[in-house]
Amino acid sequence: MLKHLIALLQSEYDDPGISEDGLVLLREGKYANSIVYRFETGGRQLVLKEFYSRSWLIRNTVGRVLTARETRALHSLSQVPGIPGDIRRIGPCALTMEFISGETIKFLCNSDQKLPKSFFIEFENRVKAMHRAGYVHLDLRNMGNIIRAADGTPYLIDFQTGFFVTWLPRGIRQFIEGVDLSGVYKNWIRLCEEELDHERQQFLDNFKGFRKFWIFDGYWPERKWRRLRNRFKNYFGSK
Ligand SMILES: Nc1ncnc2c1ncn2[C@@H]1O[C@H](COP(=O)(O)OP(=O)(O)O)[C@@H](O)[C@H]1O
Ligand SMILES: [Mg+2]
Repeated sequence: MLKHLIALLQSEYDDPGISEDGLVLLREGKYANSIVYRFETGGRQLVLKEFYSRSWLIRNTVGRVLTARETRALHSLSQVPGIPGDIRRIGPCALTMEFISGETIKFLCNSDQKLPKSFFIEFENRVKAMHRAGYVHLDLRNMGNIIRAADGTPYLIDFQTGFFVTWLPRGIRQFIEGVDLSGVYKNWIRLCEEELDHERQQFLDNFKGFRKFWIFDGYWPERKWRRLRNRFKNYFGSK
């Protein structure tokens, strides 16, 4: 199936030079996750997120659904700063986007690096801009989903688990947006050179109190997803 995907990429970018050898693996992922690569075309670095290499079942269920969700989210957020652009859907279960050069904050954390307060203020601003555009991400505690770009600013990636909340009543919407903000502040505590200020700490404490009553906990999609995936594995055997 990867050969088929390469043919689709060559035709989409009108570049016969795109080949399997030119794909640099960024993340293999597990059984039911997408595989993420970096590749180059027309002098630009792009990211390919694909399910073509997964089983027929995964490709035609979660593969299609998650690719469609992520493509739609990224298209709708194209005006928000700090979100990859250049989005193209490549067939039913792959998409490409701008490659953000830099490191994930997970990498920075693992190598004991700290970030300035200005990074987190901008992180918060960008998350609020995304909320104004009507979207909640829901997986911002995961440090693999935030990149410190080469210009020092935060970029948000991985839009498979979030959703648009414009249809929800204002109070509920604000509450779900709190999941994202609490993710920003958690990462602030882990990685910032300066302590979280009193006001934001208070927000985080209040939020923790409420969260146990709420099903859209930041870990909810991941937990559900893991359970569903294990069930698939048990029924259909692993790859
Ligand atoms: N647009 C991008 N620019 C740079 N690196 C990226 C980009 N998208 C993904 N990555 C890299 O690939 C990894 C996995 O991507 P992600 O979208 O988070 O997929 P997953 O659903 O497997 O978590 C990220 O942690 C990051 O290192
Ligand atoms: Mg991710």
